[in-house]
Amino acid sequence: MQQDDIAAGVIDTSRPHPARIYDYLLGGKNHYDVDRQAGEELVAVAPEARAGVRANRAFMERAVRFAVGQGVRQVLDIGTGLPTSPNVHEIAEQVTSDGVRVAYVDNDPIVKAHGDALLSRTGSTGIILGDVRDPRSILDHPDVRRLIDFDEPVALLLVAVLHFLADSDEPGRVAAELRDALPAGSYLVLSHATGDFADRSDAQDGYSRKASASLNLRPKAQVEQFFEGFELVEPGLAQISYWRPDSPPPAEAGRIGFYGGVARRG
Ligand SMILES: C[S@@+](CC[C@H](N)C(=O)[O-])C[C@H]1O[C@@H](n2cnc3c(N)ncnc32)[C@H](O)[C@@H]1O
Repeated sequence: MQQDDIAAGVIDTSRPHPARIYDYLLGGKNHYDVDRQAGEELVAVAPEARAGVRANRAFMERAVRFAVGQGVRQVLDIGTGLPTSPNVHEIAEQVTSDGVRVAYVDNDPIVKAHGDALLSRTGSTGIILGDVRDPRSILDHPDVRRLIDFDEPVALLLVAVLHFLADSDEPGRVAAELRDALPAGSYLVLSHATGDFADRSDAQDGYSRKASASLNLRPKAQVEQFFEGFELVEPGLAQISYWRPDSPPPAEAGRIGFYGGVARRG
């Protein structure tokens, strides 16, 4: 899809899209035949994919609870995905009744359409169409500015999104520009797909050929660089099911190709 189409909110059903493939694998309801087919092809070469997306979502929930538990009262969630209960603002509500403000951002118009209905019901949440490759346009967006005060600590969520950026998109620059906008006491919550635990080059190539965004598996050292200048909280960057688990990890945990970590700006 072209940038102009994204800006115009055009929903493209001719190619599988990351948000809809993810929704299919999670057992959601917002996907088309092309997305289901792409999801099944992914599972054929990476049988742990379904457990992987559930584990990623569970990591996001634990990490948001952690950051809000540390006193953060505003969240910038880039690469939101289709609404999936519990959504970020609902997780925050489980921790505090303080009214945590959440700005959701995604570049997929179908996420925005569903998000308008489900993620913007109160004055303390909102969703915008935005592309993480252009951090400035997100940081300066009036709806983001309405919700997020960049003089106060922010939890920035880059959960399962930077692996949709090719090296030529400069994900390191993107992460740095976003980190630089955050004041002391802020947290970066990030997860990223990897081939470190099983050779998943077939999955990477198949997904990238078909979907509207390429999948870029990265090794641990490269994922760690996205946290530069922030201090990773224990246990550091971990295979996702082992980041502060609150229930026994799934049987597939050792094969799941996702790293997750949370880091604080001191
Ligand atoms: C795998 S889903 C993750 C959803 C959610 N963060 C989670 O972890 O449960 C990735 C999301 O990132 C979005 N996305 C992909 N590339 C993006 C980009 N360049 N800018 C903003 N969002 C993007 C997709 O549309 C999709 O909704």
